[in-house]
Amino acid sequence: MKLTFGKNISKYRKLKNITQEELASKLGITFQAVSKWETGQTYPDITQLPNLSDILEVSIDKLMGHAVYEKKVSIYEDEYARDDYYWGLIPSTMCYKVLSILPPAKPFKLLDIGCGEGKDAVFFARNGYDVTAFDIADAGIEKTKRLADKLGVHVNVFKADILDMRLDTCYDILYSNGVLHYIKPGLREEIFTNYRQYTATNGIHVFSVFVVKPFIPPAPENESNAHTWISGELFSHYSDWMIKECEEIIFDCNSAGIPHKHAMNRIIAEKIPW
Ligand SMILES: C[S@@+](CC[C@H](N)C(=O)[O-])C[C@H]1O[C@@H](n2cnc3c(N)ncnc32)[C@H](O)[C@@H]1O
Repeated sequence: MKLTFGKNISKYRKLKNITQEELASKLGITFQAVSKWETGQTYPDITQLPNLSDILEVSIDKLMGHAVYEKKVSIYEDEYARDDYYWGLIPSTMCYKVLSILPPAKPFKLLDIGCGEGKDAVFFARNGYDVTAFDIADAGIEKTKRLADKLGVHVNVFKADILDMRLDTCYDILYSNGVLHYIKPGLREEIFTNYRQYTATNGIHVFSVFVVKPFIPPAPENESNAHTWISGELFSHYSDWMIKECEEIIFDCNSAGIPHKHAMNRIIAEKIPW
């Protein structure tokens, strides 16, 4: 997996809706130079970084892929720092779907995107999958490691920001429960293209996302970095895969200590060769 400078320049340029030519002209360089940065052939001169950061409105750290080491950004960091498990230890029902659709006849490679405190990642490891997991919350990563150790299994767990993280190795199963709303709408196509590309043939994606419904009030957490999906939007990324299951559910939640409801879309889709 890699966090690359060039890809970050391209990502933040596109988020600002400016072309390579426009960026080059603001920096007083040729668009070929920008193109070479974005394809990783060359790097900007160090003296250009402050200007680049100003134009793209993103910190130099973040451009260089070091944003993951910045201040905490998960509202769950403090909750995870407690001894008890904020999300409990019972695996999500989606885990059992993975077991039934792609049972661990061999140690399939599974990535848990936004693993929280690791209840699902550790469940998969206990059931014979080869599990990698990441989250942005340090305390969640520590707890995932502790839980895996306690139960005598290994999970390759590390800290990463879903916005910066791109896959460069293939997985049989990509799994994510309640995390994809941290992907800004403008990055979804690029990130899903990457996820789809690095999924093995006949591999599966098992994803759930929070969706907006006009009859459900916004959740009390009110996170500034959360971007709820449109109902049905998740399914639109899988028109050329086999959709094995997709559903919309409404459920009660008591996170933040306030009873409320969430609407969620869930999908299980298989990458079929054609
Ligand atoms: C609703 S919790 C779900 C946790 C876990 N998937 C589960 O089902 O128990 C959302 C998780 O997303 C993580 N998260 C928030 N922003 C993130 C980001 N930018 N990159 C990676 N993970 C992030 C949070 O730390 C939190 O653990």
